Formats: sequence, C-alpha cells, structure tokens
Amino acid sequence: MSDVTFPIARQRPLDPPDEATELRQRAAMHRMTYADGHRGWLVTGYSAARAILAHPHFSNRAEVSHPPIPGRFERLRTKTPPGFFIRADAPEHTRYRKLLTGQFTVRRMKALEPRIEEITNACLDDMAAAGGPVDLVQAFALPIPSLVICELLGVPYADREQFQEDTKLLVNLETKAEESIAALGRSMAYLAGLIKRKREEPADDLLSGLIEGGELDDEELTGVGFLLLVAGHETTANMLGLGTYALLTNPDQLAAMRDDPSVVDNGVEELLRYLTIVHLGPVRTALEDVEIEGTTIRAGESATIHLPSVNRDAERFPGGDRLDLARPATGHMSFGHGIHQCLGQQLARTEMRIAYPALLRRFPGLRLAVTPEEVPMRSDMSIYGVHRLPVTW
Ligand code: HEM
Repeated sequence: MSDVTFPIARQRPLDPPDEATELRQRAAMHRMTYADGHRGWLVTGYSAARAILAHPHFSNRAEVSHPPIPGRFERLRTKTPPGFFIRADAPEHTRYRKLLTGQFTVRRMKALEPRIEEITNACLDDMAAAGGPVDLVQAFALPIPSLVICELLGVPYADREQFQEDTKLLVNLETKAEESIAALGRSMAYLAGLIKRKREEPADDLLSGLIEGGELDDEELTGVGFLLLVAGHETTANMLGLGTYALLTNPDQLAAMRDDPSVVDNGVEELLRYLTIVHLGPVRTALEDVEIEGTTIRAGESATIHLPSVNRDAERFPGGDRLDLARPATGHMSFGHGIHQCLGQQLARTEMRIAYPALLRRFPGLRLAVTPEEVPMRSDMSIYGVHRLPVTW
C-alpha cells in the first residue's frame, strides 16, 4: 500500500477526512511521506496516540522534527527558541512547566472569571447595538480570548490589534516565510519591551509574577510570553467560532446548551472532542527505537498524531461521529496528552462555559445569515475553525 501524504482533505466541515477514518478502521499507525521526503508515521488510533504522547523517548524539539506539511514549521525547524517550551523536552521543559504552573493558580483563574463575564457581556452589548447580521468571529469569538490572554499576561488592551494581525499571520499555512518572520520579529520586539516595562512597574499579572520569581532571563520571558499569546488566543477563538457553527447546525444540541445549565460543562468537553481544532498534529520524533502496539518506530522517525481521527475512535467513543452534548466526553485528546498537555485548558474551559450560554441566551433567535455551505472553513490553517461566521437574530 502506498504511503499517506498530508494534509488529507475533508469532505464535510465537521468531520475528519474520510480517508483518515478509513485508515483508522484498518490500523492505528500508517506509513506517511513527510514534506522533506522523510518516511515516518501517521497515527489515527486513540491508544497508540496516547502511548506516543506519554512516552519519554519521543521528542518535540524543532531540531529533530520532520515537517508534515510542505514549508510548514521550517522557520522553527533549525532551533527551538529560548522559552518556547512547547518545543522543549524534559528536563528543560520540566523547569519551565513548573514555573508556569506556579503562575496558573486557582486564585488567578478564579479572579479572571468575573472579567471574562464582563468582556463577554460587553461583546454581546456591542452586537445588540450594531444589529444583525454580524460576523461572529470578529464580534465575539476573537475578542473574548484575545482580551482574556492580554489580561492574564498584562498586555495593554490598546496594543491588541497588532497582535491579532501578527498571530493570524503566524498560524496561517499560506503565509510566506518572509511575512511570518517579520510578524514573529514584531511580536518578539513588542514582548521584550513589555517585559522591560514590567521589570520597572510590576503588576498582578503572570509576566510580573515570572519576573519576580527571578529564574528566567528576558529572552526566556519573551519566548514564554510569545508562546502563551499564540497558544491561548487563536485556539479558544476558533473553538468559540466553530462551536457556535456546530450548535447552529445541530438545533437540538443548541437548545440543550442554551436551556439546561447542567449540560454546559460536559457539553464544552463534547464540543472540544467533536471539533478537535488542533487538526494537523502534534508531531513527535523517536530518539530511540520504540515499540508501540507491536510496531517499531525507529530512532529519527517522526509520527504525526491525527487528533480529529483519534477523538472519533469508536473503541474509545462509541457513536463518536455524532455530536451529543450529554455523552461522556472526558478522555478526549483535544488538549493533547503527556508532558505537553495544554497548560491553559482550565482557562479555555472557563471561557467557553461562560461564552456559549451567554451568547445563546442573549440572542435566543440566533441563526446563520448564510447557508451552512457558504461558511468558509479554515482548512488552510494549523488551527481549524471558521474564517467568518455571518449570523443574525
Ligand atoms: C480550546 C482552546 C485550546 C486548545 C484546543 C488547546 C490545545 C492544545 C494542545 C493540543 C496542546 C499540546 C500540543 C503538543 O502536544 O504538541 C497545547 C499545549 C499548550 N497550550 Fe493549549 N489549547 C487551548 C487553549 C490554550 C490557552 C487558553 C492557553 C494559555 C493561556 C494555552 C497554552 C498552551 C501552552 C503553553 C501549551 C504548551 C504546554 C507544554 O508544552 O507544556 N492553550 N494546547
């Protein structure tokens, strides 16, 4: 059988590609040819994916990784930047993770809740004042997480527009290398300046807390700040946009999310599982020969985890191709697994648990202002979602 090539096109906006489903039904792991000609693996089975992501002999370092998409990740390929700990291995990763966990405290997350409610209500007020139709991505899905992450880091709101522009460029697979290098440069320069200001005038925010700890130098702090900004901003925004699209096209599920508060927490987990917006990875590379479920991944070979397929594995989630907000959805891998499992997952959950019901209750007649087929999907982006979501009420 010939090797799989990547990415695989979807047939329907809310389902993984049929080819990925067929592959999973046949086996958990498949030979895949990478953009640089490397012959590695595509992983579609739940338990194999979990085993790889938890295994200490797999690396996420840029230096050893093979890009699954032509041109993608090349700018990060040569070297993992200081502080960008998502691409570091233990023990370097452990050091950062400990410092960051100390900052993502229950107290700080709790303190953000009323701010998230205020930010959400302000977006809804603006929508009501403007009147429909509006693009829900610009009016709601993007500003909420963007403002929340700025609040967490202590980035002034007035600086956010340039950030949104730059992070969009960075996660767009179509962005030319020079453009993304320029966007990266602008973001890093901005953060470096912000850290300097925080050293002089500390506040009750995460960057000030890290500075106070005294363990990280300015270059590392800039890398950490940049990682949090990119990782926390477009991800949650796309869950809010795509999640609303999924609810609008599944009216019984929408009614449950709007009318039954007991559904909300689990409903958010189910939307995370069903939609799996991190759809082109993660990727790990074996540092030694490793056997996974009877197959040997040789040292130097990369494995791309197809998360959307993994989260539909019928052995773990029977009937998982259906969106059912009442299904036990815990154990999904939308936040990854193992040492790199999402650091911001509680914050993302809080944002979604507040934002979806608030939107649906404020506008009980919310509906698409175009046909579902006319909504442009982000197949071309590393984080899946909708480019725009025209709605009215
Ligand atoms: C619904 C929203 C989100 C989704 C679906 C998501 C998904 C993920 C996934 C899949 C990973 C693992 C990547 C890998 O293994 O290579 C990850 C890691 C990470 N996420 Fe999130 N994320 C979300 C929101 C956030 C937020 C709000 C923040 C920050 C405030 C954040 C910060 C991070 C960080 C720092 C890492 C790296 C952790 C490490 O390497 O130890 N994420 N996320």
